[in-house]
Amino acid sequence: MPTPPDTSKTLKLERYNSYLRKIHSTKLINASSKLLFRATLLAALLLILFFTITYPPLSDNPHHRLHRHSLLSTSLFSVGGGAAWEKQVRRSSTPRRPNGLSVLVTGAAGFVGSHCSLALKKRGDGVVGLDNFNDYYDPSLKRARQNLLKKHQVFIVEGDLNDAPLLSKLFYVAPFTHVLHLAAQAGVRYAMQNPQSYIRSNIAGFVNLLEIAKAANPQPAIVWASSSSVYGLNTENPFSEIDRTDKPASLYAATKKAGEEIAHTYNHIYGLSLTGLRFFTVYGPWGRPDMAYFFFTKDILQGKSIEIYKTHDQKEVARDFTYIDDVVKGCLGAVDTAEKSTGSGGKKKGPAQLRVYNLGNTSPVPVGRLVWILEGLLETKAKKHVITMPRNGDVPFTHANVTLAHKDFGYKPTTDLATGLRKFVKWYVGYYGIQPRTKKETQPTDESG
Ligand SMILES: NC(=O)c1ccc[n+]([C@@H]2O[C@H](COP(=O)([O-])OP(=O)(O)OC[C@H]3O[C@@H](n4cnc5c(N)ncnc54)[C@H](O)[C@@H]3O)[C@@H](O)[C@H]2O)c1
Repeated sequence: MPTPPDTSKTLKLERYNSYLRKIHSTKLINASSKLLFRATLLAALLLILFFTITYPPLSDNPHHRLHRHSLLSTSLFSVGGGAAWEKQVRRSSTPRRPNGLSVLVTGAAGFVGSHCSLALKKRGDGVVGLDNFNDYYDPSLKRARQNLLKKHQVFIVEGDLNDAPLLSKLFYVAPFTHVLHLAAQAGVRYAMQNPQSYIRSNIAGFVNLLEIAKAANPQPAIVWASSSSVYGLNTENPFSEIDRTDKPASLYAATKKAGEEIAHTYNHIYGLSLTGLRFFTVYGPWGRPDMAYFFFTKDILQGKSIEIYKTHDQKEVARDFTYIDDVVKGCLGAVDTAEKSTGSGGKKKGPAQLRVYNLGNTSPVPVGRLVWILEGLLETKAKKHVITMPRNGDVPFTHANVTLAHKDFGYKPTTDLATGLRKFVKWYVGYYGIQPRTKKETQPTDESG
């Protein structure tokens, strides 16, 4: 019988060969993963290099906190301006005093916005403005305010509140600690002509700004302009912050009231620190041409008749007129006492501050007296035409209780109407180059003047 072949040697040889194959393939895998690792590293380095060159501030500024993801998805590289534009934004937003703030002021080419921007800049804070320079009133006045701000190194970005990529880019480039949000479609009567502009700026625009602010990391604190008009048909006097505000008399008022509710929501959900300021008829130099004290001045000087309202029950219309310098102090006081937002990157981390304040003058003045003061300052008798107040949303009487603002940040209006109007008229005749029949420091002495 043939003996079976001795296979033990062949088996050993095969086992040895398979061992060699294993070692070989492991080496191959190791080598290719090393290659892959190196290639990934190189690609990552190249990407970092690319972003560092394109966005130098990102690397050296800890406040640049917007999500890269959202930046990429909205193609922000082309938004705003180029390197020179970014440099202007950075320079303008950088504080010049220790622990200074960096504030984005929306509506900076507007009346209140231009004054607040200057005041912040003068005390050493960094300020960047945003304004769309719309033509609700003469845009050349907004351009003149812009030039004034430019002389004080305040850069105003021309753009709309609804432009999300632009706002994202601004937050990306500049380290804003605060937003002073004053941009809005103002005016009560114009709402009957162009209602959509109120929805666009005061509601959609505000929400857009809050969306960007909530996504910032850390989030800025926001102080924004509401209005005394939220008191609407409320007849309680003087108006206190705790009074009801559920009867707005105009679409303008309704959008401001909506803003207050929206502010509550963003504070509640995202931990944004929000302070609403209810201004009471602000007036002064660089003011708004659509407001009575301004167009009365113009019409009186041009010999045109002016319409003075009486209420339906033939009472005088009276307003709490608040001088711009007092309002600016109130705005800065609110900014300085605003606590930090508590959220970051769109997530709430704890309860945040939510406030609302009246910023008024506490002593309503009948419109007839306003006209009398102007007549004295302009040395011209007004042609008065007294009519019953139309139902256009104007409320006949506003009177502020400012106890809360006084308690929380020392707000105290100090300018009476005659003093404030004198400063306004001085500015008005200078700005419009009017040869004054005005005695420069005329102070009316009695009601008959
Ligand atoms: N002046 C007052 O008596 C008074 C009273 C109550 C409330 N307010 C509020 O105070 C704030 C400032 O008022 P103001 O008197 O300075 O008004 P303003 O019209 O002079 O200033 C507002 C500025 O915002 C800009 N703007 C409007 N919509 C914009 C948008 N969508 N995007 C970017 N910019 C936009 C305008 O071009 C304007 O320059 C406003 O919110 C206003 O509603 C003012």
